[in-house]
Formats: sequence, C-alpha cells, structure tokens
Amino acid sequence: MSEFLAVARWDELGEGELLGVEVDGELICLAKIDGVVYACNGECTHVGGRLYEGELQDGVLTCPVHGAQFDLRTGKVLRGPARQDLVLYPVRVEDGLIKVALPPD
Ligand code: FES
Repeated sequence: MSEFLAVARWDELGEGELLGVEVDGELICLAKIDGVVYACNGECTHVGGRLYEGELQDGVLTCPVHGAQFDLRTGKVLRGPARQDLVLYPVRVEDGLIKVALPPD
C-alpha cells in the first residue's frame, strides 16, 4: 500500500483555493472544496499547463493555458482541449497536515 506523505499544512490551503506542491519529484495540485481537500496531477493532461495556477470555481478547475475544465471531485474532463481525465490521489488530513499517497512506482 502507498505511503501517505505530508505535503502541506491544512491552514496553508484556503477554502476554494489551489496550491501546487512537489512530492518525490512529482507536481501535485491541491484544492479545498467545501472543506474537503483533493489532490490531482499538477500538470494538465493536454500539454502540461500548471493546473495550480488555474482557476477553481464550484469544484471546476480551469487550466490557465488553453482553458480545459475538469471536475476536481471526479477528475473528469468537462471541456477540451484536454481529453484525458485527471489522476486523483488519496488524501488524508492528520494533525493539521495534508497528506497525499502517490501510486507505487
Ligand atoms: S495545457 Fe491545459 S488546456 Fe492546454
């Protein structure tokens, strides 16, 4: 089973905000939606735009480069040009820390 790694403090990520973090050389985008933290790949599945520099509204993440939209709760593409869904990583909040489990190599 994957190990959960601390990536940020709970209070570093405001409600409705995005935060980019690097874990084991992997860029991850965190988002807090209705008090729940989600973690997905930090780079867009289109051509690698930095998703944590995008916009989040009502759980929908818009890529800053070409405007693809994703539902962050499911990872599903809602609008192109991206065609591939986001990868969502399991998240835990413990002792005021946000922890993410990356898939095994
Ligand atoms: S890089 Fe995200 S939509 Fe093109």
